[in-house]
Amino acid sequence: MNEMIRTQAERAEVLQGMGCKRKRTEDIRFTQGRGNYVDDVKLPGMLFGDFVRSSHAHARIKSIDASKALALPGVKAVLTAADLKPLNLHYMPTLAGDVAAVLADEKVLFQNQEIAFVVAEDRYIAADAIELVDVEYEALPVVVDPFQAMAPDAPLLREDLKEKRVGPHGERKHYNHIFNWQVGDKPATDAVFANAEVVTKDLFTYHRTHPSPLETCQCVASMDKVKGELTIWGTFQAPHVVRTVVSLLSGIAEHKIHVIAPDIGGGFGNKVGVYPGYVCSVVASIVLGVPVKWVEDRMENLSTTSFARDYHMTTELAATKDGKILAMRIHVLADHGAFDACADPSKWPAGFMNICTGSYDIPVAHLEVDGVYTNKASGGVAYRCSFRVTEAVYAIERAIEVLAHRLGMDSVELRMKNFIRAEQFPYHSALGWEYDSGNYHFAMQKVMDAVGYSALRAEQKAIQEAFSRGETRQLMGVGVAFFTEIVGAGPSRNCDILGVGMFDSAEIRIHPTGSIVARMGTKSQGQGHETTYAQIIATELGIPADDITIEEGNTDTAPYGLGTYGSRSTPVAGAATAVAARKIRAKAQMIAAHLLEVSEYDVEWDIDRFRVKGLPEKFKTMKEIAWAAYNNLPPGMEPGLEAVNYYDPPNMTYPFGAYVCVMDIDVDTGVAKTRRFYALDDCGTRINPMIIEGQVHGGLTEAFAVSMGQEISYDAQGNVMGASFMDFFLPTAVETPKWETDFTVTPSPHHPIGAKGVGESPHVGGVPCFSNAVNDAFAFLEAGHIQMPHDAWRLWSVADRLGLHA
Ligand code: CDP
Repeated sequence: MNEMIRTQAERAEVLQGMGCKRKRTEDIRFTQGRGNYVDDVKLPGMLFGDFVRSSHAHARIKSIDASKALALPGVKAVLTAADLKPLNLHYMPTLAGDVAAVLADEKVLFQNQEIAFVVAEDRYIAADAIELVDVEYEALPVVVDPFQAMAPDAPLLREDLKEKRVGPHGERKHYNHIFNWQVGDKPATDAVFANAEVVTKDLFTYHRTHPSPLETCQCVASMDKVKGELTIWGTFQAPHVVRTVVSLLSGIAEHKIHVIAPDIGGGFGNKVGVYPGYVCSVVASIVLGVPVKWVEDRMENLSTTSFARDYHMTTELAATKDGKILAMRIHVLADHGAFDACADPSKWPAGFMNICTGSYDIPVAHLEVDGVYTNKASGGVAYRCSFRVTEAVYAIERAIEVLAHRLGMDSVELRMKNFIRAEQFPYHSALGWEYDSGNYHFAMQKVMDAVGYSALRAEQKAIQEAFSRGETRQLMGVGVAFFTEIVGAGPSRNCDILGVGMFDSAEIRIHPTGSIVARMGTKSQGQGHETTYAQIIATELGIPADDITIEEGNTDTAPYGLGTYGSRSTPVAGAATAVAARKIRAKAQMIAAHLLEVSEYDVEWDIDRFRVKGLPEKFKTMKEIAWAAYNNLPPGMEPGLEAVNYYDPPNMTYPFGAYVCVMDIDVDTGVAKTRRFYALDDCGTRINPMIIEGQVHGGLTEAFAVSMGQEISYDAQGNVMGASFMDFFLPTAVETPKWETDFTVTPSPHHPIGAKGVGESPHVGGVPCFSNAVNDAFAFLEAGHIQMPHDAWRLWSVADRLGLHA
């Protein structure tokens, strides 16, 4: 069609820019089996590594005899801590400032801990060989319960830290204590509690669970001894950080290390950290001079790499009799397992737990967190959440329900009474955050109207009465949750990973024909970055998204970035993308003016072109400008059309949402059925509504899993339970409820395109919503707080405790 006669709307539609439900471009290869994952990397002469793991949760290693394994044909090496010690690699630094054993040094601290790394010609030989390694143990007493970890006579777990009275986050109170972190005004908070009309106090346990991505953690390390260069393909959410850590650990210069994260099959926080498998593969490749592959199996993934949560939150609210919340006080006992390997920005030992005042205008608050060691796997990763915001929102949203019940008030009314009001933004919370924007009352009301809230409560009352008369064995729960997320870490003045500031980056290059290649410091694990970053550029530069290729994950080509987790891609790299595009547009404006023979101030932007002000028929399209950038430039201007931006955000973004869950619970079987789940999300400017909906569906499904059954638990001997998909609840389409989604749009005032993150919001809001539904169903029977996960057995047990089976 002639460029002149196309309307602006038609030209905008061709671009498939922001706001368009553009289909995911990456799915073309995924749905045809053409993805390229780490396990698809097959190199000549490649060997395979596998771990000998501890059968004990706590034991001294008396001896390791690998002779039988080494005698097995095809076995090339067996590495133990003794081999790594001379290289100073038997321990590695964690993101939380602790160290973690790469291979157990004299003692094991959790079941399935890595003891030896067997390298063989294929995986099957390696698997046979690990059975032939004899490890002699002397069993030691086990600490599983975090409340027992600091008992005076508790067994000493970390002998390597025995003499250390001070850790990376201050003084340690006990040899199994990691840190004490306090935020807020304790005297002022205590004073309010001392005089409050109503005080609630409950222990809300957020149980240990696991991100369980479908693709487990894996890598291929290949050392080229001739060039002195190391290439690592790995399931890395933050490839640049991995390269820096490997350089610091190995002494290999950073420019001689090539880290490539190819397609990744889900991460959810599991693929942020550095694991023994990566270190051992690199060491084995350096020692043996051939590529070495390590691929975790499912049980290894669930039982050893990065658990999530395990927070025990004693939560108190102080309020007036008519429901004005005056203060909040929380003490968290955080079970970190054998090593403190939490994936948090360096200075936040409990992540963003201090967002725990939630969506409410609470004048004073105090938060205290104690981290302890136990005989469990380490981790504490942000499973589809921004550094403990999920735990924080769970605490406040359960506390709100408990307070409402105590006051005899509807919990929505209590929320409405205490919400931060629209005119209070930017809002400074009692625990130090500056919320950028929000309209909570409007969002909550929209959801109440959509679900017919009053009618639901009337129906519930009728069912309760029928239950009391013995006419039904079903209970009905109406779960409400309102959440504020905090995503986009972060301003580098606040947030760093091992000293590297948490900015992010984008580099955009326009070729002469007007097509684009753009590279970011983030790394998609399924979120659809190839689709959505192209949409931002399409809108900013007027080039169709189909003419834009997005690349991530190769440290040789992508600009340095801190990776993808904590829903930071859109708030940080998305902003970098917009800013880099605007730099290009500024240059394009000068080229356009030159081509149109007018001053640059006399041209204006119009969707996909610059036109002369007042003369819309005189214009140059971005494609024409791109061509000119390589052959017809204003005098003195350098050729080419490209830009890079490293974006250090001024603040985080604060998406929010209102959720309602309607649930029916059979007291005789404990089976809970979700009748309805309505989720309203506000992530500011929406880049791709279809992808947002997909993110919400995924996040809600994981929230359903975690709240209704998913758990990694331990028996008294420290045997890990739930470490296979036979026991660990991973919902399929059969169990997953139907989701209804909705939205409001409250742009972030400081983000170049007004966008906030969304990937994790549904998980953060979904878990308290499900749990509130369960608790709400039993609340009229004065059941007290019911701990998650709410599987059928536990719900049946609650009914039994309440005497409902008599
Ligand atoms: O960091 P991560 O990619 O996990 O999270 P995110 O920044 O929340 O983005 C998840 C996906 O949702 C990406 O494909 C984003 O481009 C998309 N998104 C969107 O379309 N609009 C928003 N306002 C936020 C995210």
